[in-house]
Amino acid sequence: MLAMEYRGPKRIRVVQKPMPEILHPEDAIVRVTRSCICGSDLHLYNGNVPDTRVGQTFGHEFTGVVEEIGSEVTKLKVGDNVLVPFNIACGKCIFCKQGLFGNCHEAAPQATAAGGFFGYSHITGGYNGGQAEYVRVPYANVSPTVIPPGMDIEDAVLLTDVVPTGYQAAEMGGIQTGDTVVVFGAGPVGIMAARCAWLFGAGRVIIIDKEDYRLEFARNYSKCEAYNFQEIGDPVVFIKKQTDWIGADVCIDAVGAEAAGNALQTITGRKTLLQAGSATAVHWAINSVRKGGVVSIVGVYGPTDNLVPIGNVLNKGITIRANQTAVKRHLPRLIEHVQNGVLNPKGLITHRLALEDVADGYRLFSAKLDNCIKTVLIPATAGM
Ligand SMILES: NC(=O)c1ccc[n+]([C@@H]2O[C@H](COP(=O)([O-])OP(=O)(O)OC[C@H]3O[C@@H](n4cnc5c(N)ncnc54)[C@H](O)[C@@H]3O)[C@@H](O)[C@H]2O)c1
Ligand SMILES: [Zn+2]
Ligand SMILES: [Zn+2]
Repeated sequence: MLAMEYRGPKRIRVVQKPMPEILHPEDAIVRVTRSCICGSDLHLYNGNVPDTRVGQTFGHEFTGVVEEIGSEVTKLKVGDNVLVPFNIACGKCIFCKQGLFGNCHEAAPQATAAGGFFGYSHITGGYNGGQAEYVRVPYANVSPTVIPPGMDIEDAVLLTDVVPTGYQAAEMGGIQTGDTVVVFGAGPVGIMAARCAWLFGAGRVIIIDKEDYRLEFARNYSKCEAYNFQEIGDPVVFIKKQTDWIGADVCIDAVGAEAAGNALQTITGRKTLLQAGSATAVHWAINSVRKGGVVSIVGVYGPTDNLVPIGNVLNKGITIRANQTAVKRHLPRLIEHVQNGVLNPKGLITHRLALEDVADGYRLFSAKLDNCIKTVLIPATAGM
């Protein structure tokens, strides 16, 4: 089968790989119909995630058709059209039982932090992902979800990560009616977080980025205010000014380890890897939230240390909430929101490419070319 393969930082190609096989009675084999490229893939692509191995196939946002099931798979049948959440979760461990599907203890037992993910580094289990024609899906009874009849496959594929992550970012913010919410990062995740902040009752939503085309997109799509941090002076002072010098009620970090905007953070976090990614956005979030406010982090950082102003967290009494999204937990509500037209996930998709062109997809998305927001890959074997 055809699959994307990682060859080292900024080097990926499409290769022929052996077909995946059922290795456990709870496995399924899925023929991919759509898969996306995510900001989380860029951390791998740029070589910022430890133990990303040459030969790995990325891709944790995909839909597909069930081709084969193991003897213990009861929730799916061959021919089902499924959306497959990015978390690989056993459904039985103490964390899965609490709904922490992003922190499953069984799917990546050697890891002490995150759980198992498709198409990521070996610190999250080393599972091959969906930027391929076929994927092995472990624990197939737990997270894969049959796509409701009538749902557009492009909406479904974004329910595997971006929509639930934007939603959880807003949810973790504990937004109260009328709150001012500031979202750092106008990538697909930040745009969706800004959109979802309204669902939780925000009174004012501001998004911050440096890409004008993304800010313009966010203004229209998320109906929020949007500012370029390269044009507003110190973003922390700017947000204070916007809020009578009080600070925002809730700040969301939807940027993560690749953040720009602070030379020291960039050198230590991205160029020399002395810290686990550049902590610029989380820094700004902590400093621009009000006393007693909430900082919600969905932007991804590596497993070791970062330079964050922890003294300000203490002295301002800030609550920090963060996690890898528990996709499965949000699906029932989010499927309803899509079906009722409250959310329009496929509106984020700007590029549709053949799987063979995956390297172009990474280049466009990573370099923010051609007004790229979200790219979907279509394998020749998709059949739809
Ligand atoms: N927690 C989760 O489960 C989860 C799920 C999906 C994605 N993520 C993470 O969310 C983050 C965003 O994902 P995405 O797909 O939207 O990525 P993206 O790379 O498309 O978007 C990031 C945006 O941040 C902007 N940016 C850079 N520095 C900034 C700064 N200092 N302040 C404000 N904006 C800044 C960039 O210009 C870019 O538009 C990534 O870190 C990704 O790994 C987390
Ligand atoms: Zn993703
Ligand atoms: Zn588990």
